[in-house]
Amino acid sequence: MKRFLIIACFMAFTAIAAAQNTISIDVTGAKDTISRFIYGHFSEHLGHCIYDGFYVGENNKSIPNKNGVRLDVIAALKKMKIPVLRWPGGCFADTYHWRDGVGPKEKRPSMLNVWWGNVKEDNSFGTNEFLNMCEELGAEPYLSGNVGSGTPQELTDWVKYTTYPNGSSPMTDFRMANGRTTPWKVGFWGLGNEAWGCGGNMKVEHYVDVYRQYATFMTDWNNSDKLYRIASGASDNDYHWTEVLMKELPANMFDALGLHHYSVIDWNKKGPSTNFSEKEYFITMQRALLMEELVTKHSAIMDKYDPKKKKALAVDEWGGWYDVEPGTNPAFLFQQNTMRDAMIAGSNLNIFNNHADRVKMANLAQVINVLQAVILTDKEKMILTPTYHVMEMYNVHQDALMLPLKVTSVDYVLGKDKLKAVNASASKDKNGLTHISLVNIDPNKEQTVTINIKGASYSSVSGRILKSGRMQDYNSFDNPEKIKPVNFEAVTLAGNKLVVKIPATSVVVLELK
Ligand code: AHR
Repeated sequence: MKRFLIIACFMAFTAIAAAQNTISIDVTGAKDTISRFIYGHFSEHLGHCIYDGFYVGENNKSIPNKNGVRLDVIAALKKMKIPVLRWPGGCFADTYHWRDGVGPKEKRPSMLNVWWGNVKEDNSFGTNEFLNMCEELGAEPYLSGNVGSGTPQELTDWVKYTTYPNGSSPMTDFRMANGRTTPWKVGFWGLGNEAWGCGGNMKVEHYVDVYRQYATFMTDWNNSDKLYRIASGASDNDYHWTEVLMKELPANMFDALGLHHYSVIDWNKKGPSTNFSEKEYFITMQRALLMEELVTKHSAIMDKYDPKKKKALAVDEWGGWYDVEPGTNPAFLFQQNTMRDAMIAGSNLNIFNNHADRVKMANLAQVINVLQAVILTDKEKMILTPTYHVMEMYNVHQDALMLPLKVTSVDYVLGKDKLKAVNASASKDKNGLTHISLVNIDPNKEQTVTINIKGASYSSVSGRILKSGRMQDYNSFDNPEKIKPVNFEAVTLAGNKLVVKIPATSVVVLELK
């Protein structure tokens, strides 16, 4: 009997211990910096991302703008600290000929945007407009080159037009003639987009040769301001693609490989962006959390060829993808953005932070009015989505030292399936402040998390939280501030131990001094 009692007590204790959320952070093991470019964005000539999103035209009198770009959008993105912006696609990039978008606007030709609804593209927003806008935003541009239907000459001319010093090429005279007297700073260059799909339906064995040809002629004008070349990377778990790129691309010809992964339930039945069921929520989160496995496995392949981690993984398209809002153009990919999207953003950014040794860039798709947008616009109105708020709360991690951590989480269970309820990442910034970002994806239960920090001591903790009553909640043009970060009080600090109570489907960012 006594023995039975001891075993029963032990089992009960084990069950209680197992049903706890714990995080241990080891400050002494910190070595990698979280690149700010992990917090990057993506803008394509698609739906109302560029036109009516960023750009309303120089002659617009009803929406305040500078050179045609909305001032409210610029202010919001600067506040969020947007570090890099990818453009002009996406699939559009491999149909885009940059010369069509420079020079006097009345002389620019129009084309059909064949990927996104066959709408007229009048090229009124082109290279000069985009690069000037990036300067205004304080964001670095990432130009996606046309490899699918362009030529190596066209791409090398674009490099010269944008980055070469005055007087060094007919392209720089052309730039002068178009009103720009100095080069822009354009470091990031993509050589094609989704070469396995809309970028040419190539086999990877063919793409490596095409890449090598294009990269050969994309020369830096000197060695001080080098181009950072990003190869069109794998889709999801296409590990063969990564393997062949790593094996066949000469090391001096590339700096990063892309990776695209969307959190989509089923490409043929994506489900609504707002009125979704818990089952749909669960599957979306399953897809979002798959990012951990994808990044780990692609990185492991890269490790074989590049053990010193000189080459980066750039997750240059990611985010939630649902059915478009009823009544909108299906080709415009306009969707609302709920607390589910905040869960995707918080969780994926935690994954990228924790893989800071290999993931050096990520670009959320897409910045305004398309897919998992941070901003939605409707004529003169603009709203910030829950995803915007996560990006803004997490910007404390930009260029901070990543603190390795180990998370033990209870399960979020739905029927026979389960996911880890809690995920997290941590960093220490240049001012000595430590930040911990925590996500509780469980829509039904608050989670208590005990955090132990080894190798540092703190005297105070404060925090902010993003939450709402229902995971389907969103900000609308009628109720734009329904969801926004507020101060977070449910945390106690004793020595190096924190106890945090995280409400259902919420994101918390703590600051420790
Ligand atoms: O972001 C929308 C589209 O998704 C992009 O144009 C393409 O690269 C991807 O398939």
